[in-house]
Amino acid sequence: MTSPAHPAAPAVRPPDETLAVTLTVNGQDHGLQLDPRVTLLDALREKLHLTGTKKGCDHGQCGACTVIVNGERINSCLTLAVMHDGDEITTIEGLGTPEEMGPMQAAFVSHDGYQCGYCTSGQIVSGVAVLGEIARGIPSHVTADLGDVQYSDQEVRERMSGNICRCAAYPNIIAAIREVHGQETGK
Ligand code: FES
Ligand code: FES
Repeated sequence: MTSPAHPAAPAVRPPDETLAVTLTVNGQDHGLQLDPRVTLLDALREKLHLTGTKKGCDHGQCGACTVIVNGERINSCLTLAVMHDGDEITTIEGLGTPEEMGPMQAAFVSHDGYQCGYCTSGQIVSGVAVLGEIARGIPSHVTADLGDVQYSDQEVRERMSGNICRCAAYPNIIAAIREVHGQETGK
């Protein structure tokens, strides 16, 4: 006897309970009761209505969902919200507003660092974090001297390689990040 071509799929059971989690987002505490399967990205967008963080691929491949958690950038589509109880999260909304833009946001505007804009939140959040990584001396794959991490466009390109822009605004994104690096360091 052969087995059926399409065996019945196992029944998907809803979780029995939600879990309490507190996320500190852009300096504000949010107590949430969440299905443990909810990603950080979906919690930000669907529960807190912070829709600046975009969902591109939902697979960790595009960087549209980049946020900063406890000082490090991560893809928020690849992590569960309940894993971040008590964590400090910065989203694009925490970097500035349309009326009062942060330096990286202003530089993206002045250098035309976006076209359709879908990738832009992730690019800007990543750009801010990249400058922090270089300033802290964290090496990348292209760093020649691991003990002496210096800013270069090549370093930025490598570190921004997880942020995909389908419009190919890359040269202007690099120019925007270079400008902010200059503002921060006087170089
Ligand atoms: S949506 Fe998270 S990396 Fe693409
Ligand atoms: S500006 Fe369109 S995807 Fe980057």
